Amino acid sequence: MTEEERFRRVMGHFATGVAVVTGRNDNGADLGFTANAVASVSLNPRLVLVCVDHDSASLPALQRHGAFALSFLGASQEDLARRFAGGTREDRFTGVSTRVEETGAPILDDALAWLDCRIWKEVEAGDHVLLIGQVERCGGGQADEPLVFYRGAYGTVHP
Ligand SMILES: Cc1cc2nc3c(=O)[nH]c(=O)nc-3n(C[C@H](O)[C@H](O)[C@H](O)COP(=O)(O)O)c2cc1C
Repeated sequence: MTEEERFRRVMGHFATGVAVVTGRNDNGADLGFTANAVASVSLNPRLVLVCVDHDSASLPALQRHGAFALSFLGASQEDLARRFAGGTREDRFTGVSTRVEETGAPILDDALAWLDCRIWKEVEAGDHVLLIGQVERCGGGQADEPLVFYRGAYGTVHP
């Protein structure tokens, strides 16, 4: 096993929720992708971060637009997690109900909870960029079971 494989395997033991990161293309179209490298950063000001791969096609548009939203997925939305992680980018939002709050980034209506953020700072970190977002608005709080990613597989927890 290479050191990279060992690192991936070890980090896979840190169970996370699953989010869809969204924003807007230069032509105004919705863009989005699945992410679990998401963390709460600061309460005052309210900051949250997402680590975005330099290979992500969404990254340049998010940086240009200066905003992103996070929609946290529920256990019944594994299909969306898979869809936003691959497939045809143009089809990712097909049949998905969204709305806009403050920044113009689309929020998934059926998300457990959501945050709408302006990019506060970008930090280069190896092959990823940390997008630190200042929270303009957030909401939700459905008590449904969350979608969880653990050891490379989807599951849930029953709080
Ligand atoms: C469970 C899961 C978590 C992921 N987390 C991240 C992440 O935190 N950051 C990231 O850049 N990509 C992450 N990805 C990969 C992206 O979803 C995937 O590369 C996507 O196709 C990127 O879309 P884009 O190229 O249209 O931006 C994750 C994928 C899965 C399945």
